[in-house]
Amino acid sequence: MNKEKKIISKLPDVKTTIFTTVGNLARKHNAIDLSQGFPNFEADAKLISLVNQAMEQGHNQYAPMQGYYGLREIISEKIQTLHGHQYHPKTEITITVGATQAIYTVITAFVHPRDEVIVLKPAYDCYEPAIQVNGGIPIFLQLDVPDYKIDWKAFKAKITKKTKMVIINTPHNPSGKILSEDDMLRLQEILKDTNILVLSDEVYEHIVFDGKEHQSVSRFPDLAERSFVCASFGKTFHVTGWKIGYCAASKALMEEFRNVHQFAVFCVDHPVQRALTEYLKTPERYLGLNDFYQGKRDLFLKGLANSKFKFIPSQGTYFQLLDYTQLTQETDEEFAKKLILEHKLASIPISSFNVNNRDDKVLRFCFAKTEDTLSKALEILNGL
Ligand SMILES: Cc1ncc(COP(=O)(O)O)c(C=O)c1O
Repeated sequence: MNKEKKIISKLPDVKTTIFTTVGNLARKHNAIDLSQGFPNFEADAKLISLVNQAMEQGHNQYAPMQGYYGLREIISEKIQTLHGHQYHPKTEITITVGATQAIYTVITAFVHPRDEVIVLKPAYDCYEPAIQVNGGIPIFLQLDVPDYKIDWKAFKAKITKKTKMVIINTPHNPSGKILSEDDMLRLQEILKDTNILVLSDEVYEHIVFDGKEHQSVSRFPDLAERSFVCASFGKTFHVTGWKIGYCAASKALMEEFRNVHQFAVFCVDHPVQRALTEYLKTPERYLGLNDFYQGKRDLFLKGLANSKFKFIPSQGTYFQLLDYTQLTQETDEEFAKKLILEHKLASIPISSFNVNNRDDKVLRFCFAKTEDTLSKALEILNGL
């Protein structure tokens, strides 16, 4: 390769992600880590033994390209029971390498150069690079603190003839906000006479609090027709390192999705698919998560009742935002760094998720942690 020739990056503005930066700093300074979105407790031993069993039974070669049929079947039943929409396991569900690959594949399969994709900010960090690598143009709508409510008029104003896709995420990382039935109906109404597709990131579908229900796009017939549901077993079953999830969409959309999927990964870890098929036969294993994580949210927030932080309780996900303006006017990056270096507690500054890194002086804390870890974190936060 000619050393003189510069590499022309497709993603010239991408830097090390905030998760890596904060994670490295937290490790270096031995800080309690509430920054990264994963549990610090073990998955159910039963699930792990089911994977072992599947390997011992010889399910160690390639799975079918679309995923093990039994797993697709049980996912189809689960969605039908919870949301009343039938995705055919044969043609409308594909097992993926986590939600991230599902999201990347949807965007790669459908976004052409110069197509516009509407992204609501703050947003999880994998959407924008996937759009850009495919030559698409992300069109941002910034949501505002403290409640991150979607202004549907402003949303509608972002739609142009070039809009190919809209990305939504409920429950929402990082805000912990969930979209209501009314939100979904508004979205359905706005898109009704268009060909716009919806990528619905629903990785926290089983972590919704206070008796509310997860409003999947699959509940709304016109939305379901034009949408891709992207889901994650890693998030649901405390095994983020396994990177396994799925995508569900109507037949025509799924056909095109698979055209890309089969040449990107072809297929996904086989024994894990077999194990999940067995494990999903007991719905309590995922239906119990709302209460499980609500207990952790409540413990965390009760512990902060007399602190200087301001907050609106998270409605879903395992994240809680805390406004620290009563403590300091430092930028969120400065304050997050100070918390790690001086107080040994790691969190994520929200500016990294916002348009132009807007700083609302809010930090994100992950409460998918043991009671012991949460108690230690609370002691630090209350001492500030
Ligand atoms: C909103 C959101 N979408 C997608 C993902 C990625 O999911 P997976 O690990 O299954 O690829 C995450 C992980 O943090 C997330 O928070």
